[in-house]
Amino acid sequence: MSFSKKLILALDFSEVQEALQWVDRFMDFVKIFKVGKQLFTSAGPQIIRDIHRQGGQVFLDLKYHDIPNTVAGACREASELGVFMLTIHAMGGLEMMQAAREAIDQRSSQHKPLLIAVTVLTSFSEQNLKDIGIVLPLKQLVLQYAKLAQKGGMDGVVCSVQEAKSIKKECGEKFLVVAPGIRLEERKILKEDQKRSSGIEAALQSGADFLVLGRSLFQAKNPVSLLKQTIEHYSS
Ligand code: C5P
Repeated sequence: MSFSKKLILALDFSEVQEALQWVDRFMDFVKIFKVGKQLFTSAGPQIIRDIHRQGGQVFLDLKYHDIPNTVAGACREASELGVFMLTIHAMGGLEMMQAAREAIDQRSSQHKPLLIAVTVLTSFSEQNLKDIGIVLPLKQLVLQYAKLAQKGGMDGVVCSVQEAKSIKKECGEKFLVVAPGIRLEERKILKEDQKRSSGIEAALQSGADFLVLGRSLFQAKNPVSLLKQTIEHYSS
């Protein structure tokens, strides 16, 4: 897959117009745009139709985690919206993931979204896990969630770059890895909350299939030229 096709831009904004302007500016370079809780809560499902109308694909990152029946219903609705990819939490358990898989597979049209399970958020450290009563070493926990996600019929997982290699080794090359917390080199971001972030070079070497770019791109002085330069650099 070419470098630019691996990129996903996180539209973490509240204003619909602002988000759509960014889609318009980046559309020549990148096709997948991530709609998360902030934008979806403010704009609702119409934002997905708007991005589609502009020619983009949507990664709906609402990280569903609820009882199996509720998550299955939400996944069915997300499918109907024609999203490219969507997330649920592996922590929701095997039954919940299987229910989500079934809901998506029942969809009649040819296009089915990629169903991706979040393992351990990249903002979590081992200490954060201990604070909520999880004592397994972080890497072991991520791998356990990834294996459970594969058993539950997921197409792949979200994890940090640090865990990507071992997941690919354990679950196979075809099991997709989506890596958020990507930092464009030497670029510090305001209010950094990610504990397991990585640069692009390391992300590519880890074998991750998709890289999510958020604040490290959008907080740059000129995000469009930075992205253009980055794509040129890693495509040559
Ligand atoms: O701005 P930053 O690059 O940290 O953005 C990362 C994006 O990826 C955010 O939208 C965040 O919700 C999302 N994400 C994450 N960690 C995960 C899953 C998704 O940071 N495990």
